[in-house]
Amino acid sequence: MKPVDLEGSRVLVTGARGFIGEAVCQYLGMRGADVHGIGRSAGGTGDQLCTYESIDLANAEATVGYFNKIQPNFVIHLAGCSVARRELEWVQKTFVANLLTTVNLLSAAQLAAVEKAIIAGSLAQPDEETLVSIPTSPYAASKWAATGYARMFHAVYDMHVDTARIFMVYGPGQKELQKMIPYVCLSAIAGDNPELMSGARQVDWVYIDDVAEGLVRLLLDGPGDGSLVDIGTGRLVSTGMVANMICQQSDSGVTATIGAIPDRAMEQIRKADSEKTEQLIGWQPRITLENGLERTLAWYRQNHAE
Ligand SMILES: NC(=O)c1ccc[n+]([C@@H]2O[C@H](COP(=O)([O-])OP(=O)(O)OC[C@H]3O[C@@H](n4cnc5c(N)ncnc54)[C@H](OP(=O)(O)O)[C@@H]3O)[C@@H](O)[C@H]2O)c1
Repeated sequence: MKPVDLEGSRVLVTGARGFIGEAVCQYLGMRGADVHGIGRSAGGTGDQLCTYESIDLANAEATVGYFNKIQPNFVIHLAGCSVARRELEWVQKTFVANLLTTVNLLSAAQLAAVEKAIIAGSLAQPDEETLVSIPTSPYAASKWAATGYARMFHAVYDMHVDTARIFMVYGPGQKELQKMIPYVCLSAIAGDNPELMSGARQVDWVYIDDVAEGLVRLLLDGPGDGSLVDIGTGRLVSTGMVANMICQQSDSGVTATIGAIPDRAMEQIRKADSEKTEQLIGWQPRITLENGLERTLAWYRQNHAE
């Protein structure tokens, strides 16, 4: 892979205090970028990774004002909500967090003549090739619609933008502790048997540092024509298998209790087209699942031992 040099470039990362946002800010900073970050919350631990400001992207006026002030060359839009629950209340929440923020961001980026933007899509959104694309959750619908807007901004306003279709990210720094890998790590560390669904769901797991690199590669080398580009490994491993690997690595004698919780309806099995991504942007993940889980378990041991 060719080296990334961002010396002299100002890059805005939205959702800079989030799981992926922090890793991307760190990656960019190490490659010489002038990194600016936003989220709604104020203060906190992420400040050394970027010049941080509290901005609500649901507020169109505040977003335009911020872009006018910062004048970024590039944008990586990671602000959003990744909850894929089906209850009706999540329609409104994901609409605001994922679609409204993206529309406001793309509009402000166009006004500020940003050179290139990346928005965060998801494995949850329907496959491109599917003849009849039906999103199976409010989250999936919001991500799918955001991709549509990105395409429209390219087609109508000639904006350089792509959507990163990010698969299941795991690794150090994931703060949503109810997600499967943090939950299993913390249960194992505490010596409790983690309770799982059937464990049969096949997932494309991708390590956080690989995702940060892939997003920056897409920013610099992606086509910029509204493409949907997979950021994943192209390999499927079941949730049960991953839970067993963590339990074994923890050496705590725990075993996953399979079938303790009912499976979620309409869960999609999707894996990244990693060959296509490699051809397009010259990126492929480097960290094996085994190694990534070891690093993740070590991080939770050190940071969440209580
Ligand atoms: N993690 C995954 O496995 C995964 C997989 C596929 C796609 N994605 C997508 O990748 C993106 C980042 O995911 P993540 O895991 O890093 O999520 P995360 O940890 O929840 O971070 C998202 C950040 O967005 C900020 N945010 C939310 N609404 C905002 C608003 N209106 N204005 C400004 N900031 C706002 C939040 O900070 P404040 O609360 O401070 O505002 C939060 O720190 C999301 O779009 C997600 O859907 C993630």
